[in-house]
Amino acid sequence: MSCVRIGLTMNPMRFLITGGTLGMGRGVAHALAIADDRRHEVVILGSSSERGASAVRELQQVTGNSKVSFVRCDLASFRSVESAIEVLRSQPPLDGVFVNAGIGYAPRQTMTEDGLDPHFQVNYLSQFMLVLNLLDSLKRSASGGRVIFNAARGGEIRWDDMQMTKKWGYEPAILQAFAAKRMFSSRLHALQREAGTKLSTVAFEIPKTVWSHQIEIIPWPMRAMATVMKWFGAFISIERCGEIMAPLFAESQAESLARSGKFISWRDGGFFEKSDDAQITDTAQQIKLWDESLRLIGREETSRIAATVSA
Ligand SMILES: NC(=O)c1ccc[n+]([C@@H]2O[C@H](COP(=O)([O-])OP(=O)(O)OC[C@H]3O[C@@H](n4cnc5c(N)ncnc54)[C@H](OP(=O)(O)O)[C@@H]3O)[C@@H](O)[C@H]2O)c1
Repeated sequence: MSCVRIGLTMNPMRFLITGGTLGMGRGVAHALAIADDRRHEVVILGSSSERGASAVRELQQVTGNSKVSFVRCDLASFRSVESAIEVLRSQPPLDGVFVNAGIGYAPRQTMTEDGLDPHFQVNYLSQFMLVLNLLDSLKRSASGGRVIFNAARGGEIRWDDMQMTKKWGYEPAILQAFAAKRMFSSRLHALQREAGTKLSTVAFEIPKTVWSHQIEIIPWPMRAMATVMKWFGAFISIERCGEIMAPLFAESQAESLARSGKFISWRDGGFFEKSDDAQITDTAQQIKLWDESLRLIGREETSRIAATVSA
């Protein structure tokens, strides 16, 4: 990819990409590292130190940007999230966070060390905790802090069985996490506007399936089907995904604020707003999820921060 210009701001920016070691996150990390004459800094977050080190090495090499680094964090563990927060708080402020990391296919449900459904904790709850604890850092951004959620449509919060202990399936679990992320994005936007801050939040749906690491771990009949569909153009590469999404991170503060709180996608070279389901946009449901999320995390510091956001 050539050195594209995506930012209207001339400020060098600093981004955190959760799940930046592989897949969509890696594609976005690649695009941001190469953009705007390689002036931006990219921090990728993932659970494996080895994968993190090799992703940093490869990204630095292919983009020619040495300002790519890694923070280890296993999102299936609140203890690990706390350690990562400490590391990130000791570093310069962030201008943007991509809430992206996630588990896809899984053959069975294995509860996390915190006793939660892994899709719920990794794909949503630990990143809810991470974002709340990084708000101060984002608010110090000279370009206007922004949080971009990787959030496809569909899904619902299963209030009667949120951890899916009665009935589990990896697809409904992924979809519940998407629903939770869209509700969080919308609620955080409303609270930030009430508080008069300039932070923006956007929930983004990629319009085409991305050929990611997920293809390597799905059962072979699904992989064979995916390979056939790839010939018919059903997939885009992680690099193309990065090119599409990168402007959301480095656009001007005014543009980012105009998009804030919305659920958007991309078509014919531009972003457009999508309508969302009634449960997602319902303020009472959003507040219920916010409160339940804090209860499940059970960390005083995170609850204290949440109280100041929603004061
Ligand atoms: N592929 C698509 O078409 C598509 C479309 C819409 C939305 N999505 C969503 O996009 C997100 C990324 O999907 P992908 O297709 O890019 O998957 P992927 O290639 O499997 O990448 C997943 C990323 O998440 C990280 N991750 C997984 N478990 C983690 C944990 N416990 N702690 C920290 N990081 C963890 C992985 O890093 P490590 O393994 O190094 O920890 C990896 O970087 C998912 O939430 C997915 O649902 C994907």
